[in-house]
Amino acid sequence: MAHIIDGKTAAQTLRTQITQQVAALHSPGISPGLAMVLVGEDPASASYVHSKARQTEECGMQAFEHKLPQSTTQQQLLRLIEQLNGDARVHGILVQLPLPDHIDAVAVLSRIAPDKDVDGLHPVNTARLADGNPNIVPCTPLGCLVLLRNELGDLSGKQALVIGRSHLVGRPMSHLLLSQHCTVTTAHSRSQNLAELCRQADILVVAAGQPELVRGSWIKPGATLIDVGINRQHGEDGKTALVGDVAFREAVEVAGAITPVPGGVGPMTIACLLLNTLLAALRQQGMSAPEWAVLAH
Ligand code: GUN
Repeated sequence: MAHIIDGKTAAQTLRTQITQQVAALHSPGISPGLAMVLVGEDPASASYVHSKARQTEECGMQAFEHKLPQSTTQQQLLRLIEQLNGDARVHGILVQLPLPDHIDAVAVLSRIAPDKDVDGLHPVNTARLADGNPNIVPCTPLGCLVLLRNELGDLSGKQALVIGRSHLVGRPMSHLLLSQHCTVTTAHSRSQNLAELCRQADILVVAAGQPELVRGSWIKPGATLIDVGINRQHGEDGKTALVGDVAFREAVEVAGAITPVPGGVGPMTIACLLLNTLLAALRQQGMSAPEWAVLAH
C-alpha cells in the first residue's frame, strides 16, 4: 500500500510557517497585502476568492477584495490593475480566472507588475521559470513541488512525467521539475502510448482533467503520484463524489506514495498563494526569502 500524502497537514504546516514570518515582520512595520479581483458573479469563483481572503487574514496579512460586475470593461479592469500596481499596501495581485469572454485575460495578466504577480502568470514570470531562473511560480505547481520535496527530498535524476500542458499547471510543472534536475516528459491529449510513458515514471504529476484516466496497471511500482484532477462524478445513489485524474483504489496498491482527492494538492494551492504573497512582500522590501521556503536557495 502506498503512503497517502496528507495535503491538509502539509498546507497547515506551511501556513504556520507563513504566519510566524508575517508576525516577525510586524515589528519593522511591514504588513503583507494581497489584492484579489473578481469579475462577475460565478459562485465557484466567488467562493474561491472568499477562501483566499479568509486564509490571507488568518495568516496576519491584509486582504483587499475587489468585486466587479460582469459588465466591467477591459479598460476599467486595466485601470484597477494600474491602481493596485501603484498601491504600496498591496504586495500581491490576483485576478481570479476565468474572466468574462469580452475581456482578454492575457492583456490583463500582462498589466500586473511582475513583482506583484502572485499567480506567476505574467509573461516575465513564465519566461523566467522556463529559463531556469524562477521569480514567482504558479501556486498549484508550487504546491505539488512542496509535496514532492516533502516526500522524496532531492529530486535529481528522477524520471518525471507530467500529464497536461495547461498554462496554470502542466507547463509550469514541467519547467519546475526540470529546474529540480528531473528528466522530464510532458504528455497531453495527443500523446501516444500514455500507459507506456507512465510505466517509466518515478514521479507522475497528472493534470489532465479526465476522471480516473491513469490506471493502476500503468504505474511503476513504488512511484510517487501527484493527482491534480478534481472531477465531479455522479454516483448511482444520486450523490456526487470528487474523483481525481488517477484511479485511486487501483493506484494505491502499486504506488509508493499518492495524493488523495480531495485532501491532496487542493489545500496546497491557497497555502502557496499566501507563500507567494509573503515572498513578494519580502522582495519588495529588499529582504531575502526565509530558509524554509521552497526554491529559496
Ligand atoms: N482559477 C482557477 N485556478 C486559478 C488560479 O490558480 N489562479 C487564478 N487567478 N484563477 C484561478
